[in-house]
Parts: sequence; C-alpha cells; structure tokens
Amino acid sequence: MAILAVEGISKSFGGLQVLQSASLEVAEGTITGLVGPNGSGKTTLLNTIYGLIKPDEGTVIFRGQKISGLAPYRIYDAGLAFSFQLPRLFFQLTVLDNLLLAARNQVGTSFSGALFRRRRWRRQEAELARKALQILELLGLVPLALHATGELSGGQRKLVEIGRALMSDPVMILLDEPAAGVNPVLGRKIYQKLRALRDQGLTFLIIEHKLEMLLDFADRIYMMDAGQVVLSGTPKEVIENPVFYATYVGETKNVTFPG
Ligand SMILES: Nc1ncnc2c1ncn2[C@@H]1O[C@H](COP(=O)(O)OP(=O)(O)OP(=O)(O)O)[C@@H](O)[C@H]1O
Ligand SMILES: [Mg+2]
Repeated sequence: MAILAVEGISKSFGGLQVLQSASLEVAEGTITGLVGPNGSGKTTLLNTIYGLIKPDEGTVIFRGQKISGLAPYRIYDAGLAFSFQLPRLFFQLTVLDNLLLAARNQVGTSFSGALFRRRRWRRQEAELARKALQILELLGLVPLALHATGELSGGQRKLVEIGRALMSDPVMILLDEPAAGVNPVLGRKIYQKLRALRDQGLTFLIIEHKLEMLLDFADRIYMMDAGQVVLSGTPKEVIENPVFYATYVGETKNVTFPG
C-alpha cells in the first residue's frame, strides 16, 4: 500500500515551469529512488512534499491524510522526516548534541518548564541521550559522539543528518543525495544502514545521482526529466528501458552509472 502519494504536482518559478504534473507513489517499507539529470526538479519535488514549497497544483497524501498545505513542522509531527542535500548541522556542537537538538516534545524548551519541572526534564534528557546513543550505535558513530561535528568528514556529516532525522521516530524519511560527496566505501555503508532500517519497517524516498548505488539498494525507481516523471519501475526495468539512457544523454556531471 502507498504510504505517500504525490498527485499531479506543478510548480513555476517566475516564468519557469519546474514541475509539470509530477506524480509518484511510495509503498510502505520500501526504498524508493528518485533520479534524473541536474535541474530536472527532484529537489523541488521533495521540498514540495515537505511543505517547504507550495505547489501551484496537485496534492500530497501521507498515510491517508492530505499534507499539502500543511506547515513543515506539522508534516514532521505526522511522521515524515527530511534530510537535506547539504547537511544543516551545528558544527560547533558535538554529534550527540546535534541529535539531542533534533528531538521533539522536549519538556525543557520553555523557561517555566525548565524551572518547575526540572526533575522530569532531567529524566527526559537522560532518555533522549539513551535514544541518541542507540541511533549513533546503529550508524557506527559512537566513537565520534563527543566530537565537534565540524571535525567530521562529509560522509560522516551525512550520517549525523540521518541520525537527526531518526530522532523524531519517523515512519518515513526523505533523503536528498545521502551519498553525494562521500567516498564509495562509506557511501555503500550509508546505504547498508538505510536498508537495515527499511528491514525494520521504515520507508525511504531518496534522490541520488550515484545510480550504481541506488540500483543496488532501491526497491523501485522514478525518473524525472524537465519537471516530469518520465519512467518508473524496478531497478532492472528502469535500466532496461531506452528512456533511461536517452534522458542521460550528454549528462555526465555528478552522475555515476552502473557497471
Ligand atoms: N527557488 C527557485 N527559484 C527559481 N528557480 C528555481 C528555484 N528552485 C529551483 N529552481 C530551478 O528549478 C529547476 C529544478 O531545480 P531542482 O533543484 O529541483 O533540480 P534537481 O533535479 O534537484 O537538480 P540537482 O540534481 O542538480 O540537484 C532548476 O532549473 C532550478 O534552477
Ligand atoms: Mg537537487
């Protein structure tokens, strides 16, 4: 069953039509990939799903509820988390603190809450720290927990960003190029972690230019070209379709092909 349904999304910036009736569906418990040449509208579509951009037309349904038009924090509360193309982290803070800051329902965030409910606040802090450490363990980041995030490599920062998304107990995560700027070994490691999370029931929609990686790990792939979804299917179906190759003609920048 589709946990996310994107139906007929169109969006123009000025005179430029960036999305043209784009539709896709993500089945629960899958890794679904979104590919396409630079500028084809992938990030804009993800931003629309997440409520960062208001579409001119179309709807987004998440777990049977219309989420288009909702503010991003409401979408986050509904169980959909987002990891950005460029990690948005606090570089001076430790890895652990970056995860703790991402946690929701923090009792200690208001002044009176901190003052009058200190004991409860401290208990919740301890629980959150335990949860953060479990996530860091899963991502192989425990040895870096107390390092400043600014000291980490690009790939490790991507993992921290994924860890932040996991702190909200999401049912689905949108990821924009999780393996970009990451060496191939760590890139595969990131995807192995994502696959393990999928096996626990989490759902992913992932933009990726490293096609050889996505084709290995995705259950289903959608391809965009010039603002439209032009192709979809299993990785095998997609790479056997001439449209896949035609779309990438002349396109080598940032894209790595299988084989
Ligand atoms: N806020 C904006 N204002 C005007 N044009 C925009 C805006 N955001 C995106 N665009 C344009 O929309 C098109 C699609 O951009 P988008 O970032 O969605 O592509 P993409 O598929 O994610 O590309 P990439 O693979 O390079 O990340 C591009 O031509 C881009 O210049
Ligand atoms: Mg993009």
